[in-house]
This record gives sequence, structure tokens and C-alpha cells, in this order.
Amino acid sequence: TTRVFSGVQPTGNLHLGNYLGAIVNFVKLQADHECLYCVVDLHAITVPVAVWGGPNELRRATREVTAAFIASGIDPKQHIIFNQSQVAGHAELTWVLNCVARLGWLNRMTQFKEKAGKDRENASVGLYDYPVLMASDILVYRATHVPVGEDQKQHLELSRDIAQKFNNDFSESIAANGHGDTFFPLPEPVITGPATRVMSLRDGTKKMSKSDPSDYSRINLTDDADAIAQKIRKAKTDPEPLPSEEKGLENRPEADNLVGIYAALSGKPKSALLAEFGGAQFSSFKSNLVDLAVAKLSPIAREMKRLTDDPAHVDQILIEGAERASVIASETMDAVKDIVGFIRGR
Ligand code: AMP
Ligand code: TRP
Repeated sequence: TTRVFSGVQPTGNLHLGNYLGAIVNFVKLQADHECLYCVVDLHAITVPVAVWGGPNELRRATREVTAAFIASGIDPKQHIIFNQSQVAGHAELTWVLNCVARLGWLNRMTQFKEKAGKDRENASVGLYDYPVLMASDILVYRATHVPVGEDQKQHLELSRDIAQKFNNDFSESIAANGHGDTFFPLPEPVITGPATRVMSLRDGTKKMSKSDPSDYSRINLTDDADAIAQKIRKAKTDPEPLPSEEKGLENRPEADNLVGIYAALSGKPKSALLAEFGGAQFSSFKSNLVDLAVAKLSPIAREMKRLTDDPAHVDQILIEGAERASVIASETMDAVKDIVGFIRGR
């Protein structure tokens, strides 16, 4: 049996990278798996408060991510959509797994190094511990599959290492408590599609990111048709026409990125697109891309707006999702407590 878990942080602007790298796959997986999709508000506060924006902004962004999940096609009746802080098991399991994970493993995390920057002494302890909280998110549901963008690959490997070490460290107790020889399944990353790493529209060597100061670097899921059109028209390209084969995209990061975005939005492979557009100028490719992006994204933006106009309704979805998630998480926590040797009442 399989179970899918993934998370998205409620910080800044949700963008095309989040959508194509992650959310599109969330939607696909719901057809034949049990899925939990989490707005990871505990992760959001690992950066300085001036960066995550404070309580009102956190609430706004939490509702926006929830709305994006639903507007993209995730069914909150069939599957579970909730915010992380409403299920105590995430933080509770993090403590136990903090005592399983090794400092040396965390010291290798490249995202911490990037986010902490030069002033590492001033990074929050939470930012350092971020990957252990992420492992707990997944393992508290004993999830088997985790759809994410390319940038989360290292964190997923760490989650597997933590799961494996817990299984080894407590193997006797795991067996004695009737769980056989493994308690946590090793979660598999699901990193698929032509856009697992969407790049900035201004610089093809930089990831499209929520925090880029230039709004022209990304297409936000809330952008209207005019904004989408302007950003694509202004997107950086090189002066050459489109190549007719995929190897012609090598060393042309901006061209490769736009073709990847087109492929992901249209569902056509890059090779088929290049057969169609090879030899064309970017201006004509871009007008086709504008039409496609507007057709795919504006219905989502419209539905997100409709949903966020009724915040109480969105909050109710999160509350109901959290209640269902808590049932699974408490079962895991009870078992973990017995395995570790914490005395508890029934
Ligand atoms: P975050 O906004 O950091 O919580 O990311 C949410 C999801 O979007 C994660 O699965 C990321 O891997 C994915 N993601 C973020 N940025 C990009 C990007 N530029 N391209 C592809 N996937 C991305
Ligand atoms: N770290 C992920 C990101 O920034 C978000 C996340 C938190 C997550 N917990 C998770 C993703 C668990 C997958 C599974 O994109």
C-alpha cells in the first residue's frame, strides 16, 4: 500500500515553478493514491520574521497555498489538505528524530548553506533543523511517495537516512512491538515531468524563486493575463532561433527553460515542440507560449481568488483536513512512543 505526502511553504508568491515542479504532480497522484498535502507553516517561520512577514502575512499565504491546491484540482474531500501546525505529531516526532539524525548529516545540507548565507551564526536553529522537521512530516504518516521539485532531492535522501537509522537503532523494539523488521518505510522521491527545475525568466542559471526581488523573474499563480503576457514577452532569451532538436538546447539555459515550460504546460514532449518550432524566432514561440500559459493559468488564478475571498471557508477545509491527518499521525506517535520506551496512558 502506498501513501503520498508533500508540503509547500506559505511564504511569498506561489509561482510557476511550484506549480509545474510540484503541484501538477500532486494532482496526478491523487487518481490512484491516498494523498496528504500540507501547507508547512512551521517551516515558513525558520527564516527571520521580517522575511516571512508576520502573523497576518502567514495567515494570508497559508490560505493562498490552500486555495492553489484546490484550484489546481486537488479534491479536499477525497484527499487531505491541512496546515502543519494543527497536527502536533509533526513537531513531536521532530524531537525524537533530532536524536536520531547526526550533526554531520545536517552539515551537508546545501539549502541551509544557501539560506543562511554568510552570516551563519545568525541563522535560526529552526533553519538548521528544517530537514528533520521535513523528515517528520513524511514519516509521521509513514508516507511512501513524495512528489517534489528537483531542489528537494537532498532533503529526501536525508529523510531516508533518518528513517533507516531509526529502523536500525530500534530494530529489536520494533519487532517486540509487533511491527516486523521495519517501522518507517523509506520514502521515495517523485521528481518527474519536463519542469522539475523551472528557472528565473531573467536569468536561466537561477532557480525561479518566491523570494527573487524582481517580479519579472517569475510568473505568480495569481498573475492576470496581462502580467503573464508581459513577463513572457520580456523573458530573457539569446538571439538564435529555436533549435530543431533537444541537443540544440545545451548551453542555452533561457531557451531550454522556456521550452521546458511550454512542454510542461502543453503535455507535449520537448522533442515534439522543437520539431514544430525549430528554426522559428523566439518572438513567435513566445506568443504561442503566452496563449498557452494564459489558457492554463488564468482559470486557476480566478478560482484561487474566489476561494480566498471566503477565508472562513478555506480555514474550515484546513481544520477538517487536520482532524483527519491527526488520526493517522497519533497512531504513528503512539507506536513511536512504545518503540522508544516512553510510558503513556491508553
Ligand atoms: P517551497 O515553495 O520551497 O515550499 O516549494 C514547494 C514545492 O515547489 C517543492 O516541491 C519545490 O521543490 C518546488 N519548487 C520550488 N521552486 C521550484 C522551481 N523553480 N522549479 C521546480 N520546482 C520548484
Ligand atoms: N522543504 C519543502 C520545500 O521547501 C517543503 C516541505 C516541507 C516538504 N515538508 C515537506 C516537501 C515534506 C515534501 C515533503 O519545498
